[in-house]
Amino acid sequence: MPVSRPSLSVHLQETGAPDTLRHLILEVARACKYIHYALRTTEAGLAGTFNQYGDAQVKLDVISNDIIARHLHESRLVASFISEEEQSVIELRDDAPYSVVFDPLDGSSVVDTNFTVGTIVGIYAGKELIGRTPREQVGALYVLYGPRTLLVYSTGNGVHEFILDEMGEFILLHGFLGIGDNPKSYSVGNLVATKENAAYRTLVEGWMQSGLTLRYTGCMVTDIHHVLSKGNGIFVNIGGGKYPHGKLRLVFECGPFAYLVEQAGGMASTGKAPILDVKIESIDQRTNIIVGSMKEVERVCGLLN
Ligand code: AHG
Ligand code: MN
Ligand code: MN
Repeated sequence: MPVSRPSLSVHLQETGAPDTLRHLILEVARACKYIHYALRTTEAGLAGTFNQYGDAQVKLDVISNDIIARHLHESRLVASFISEEEQSVIELRDDAPYSVVFDPLDGSSVVDTNFTVGTIVGIYAGKELIGRTPREQVGALYVLYGPRTLLVYSTGNGVHEFILDEMGEFILLHGFLGIGDNPKSYSVGNLVATKENAAYRTLVEGWMQSGLTLRYTGCMVTDIHHVLSKGNGIFVNIGGGKYPHGKLRLVFECGPFAYLVEQAGGMASTGKAPILDVKIESIDQRTNIIVGSMKEVERVCGLLN
């Protein structure tokens, strides 16, 4: 008899996630199935609006944000949320157990080229988000919409990978994803910063000489999933030029990934401190990020400081 692989719902029960957290993750997963569908059926193109960071929103940014916001609202489990596409913290229900941070569509600048894109989500207990640190997350996940749609989550007991099957069910693909030392690939964002940052330039030149393979798509979900999927690698985005403090946002991009990567045995740093220990002061806070194989992250931090 074939051994059946657990669905996301069954897996969440087996790993002992509290019922409320299980329901919330399943609700987010359900929302992501609608995003998966929207990506396949919506014409790419600009929505004619801008988000709070001045980025032109593509239609799919707006659609994806609306889908997740609606599911969080309907779950009755969410006290407040922060989304890349909202201007402020959105408050839903004072008495609900969780707050959620999310980037509904990461990589939206490459969505029209049919590159892979993703959704990033972090979950905190309680209502307040400002003043917390990403280490306080009780769970995090991302969904990668590629030739296959994958969901990767952790609630603090390792990192688990699922595939969306033809029936619309997320089925376990790998029970545990781990990140070891000895990266075979490197992924570098905001290379323009190497013009003003000699240490960054030296670092990139070192990788170019070292025999590591370059892997960079312009979507951090894809690029960091590459590290998690291969079990090694390094991803960096260092500030400079148009983004003096780094391009990527602490709350809904770097924080959830730092949680997932550390759960997989890797490391995520600003260069000076673990991403997980950076206090959330504002919803649009940006940070440098160096993430992936632990020893390489440590080496990079040493070189950049
Ligand atoms: P978003 O589409 O949510 O605005 O985020 C895109 C981010 C991230 O996914 C990626 O690593 C980075 O922007 C790419 O930046 P460059 O296009 O400057 O390389
Ligand atoms: Mn993003
Ligand atoms: Mn986005």
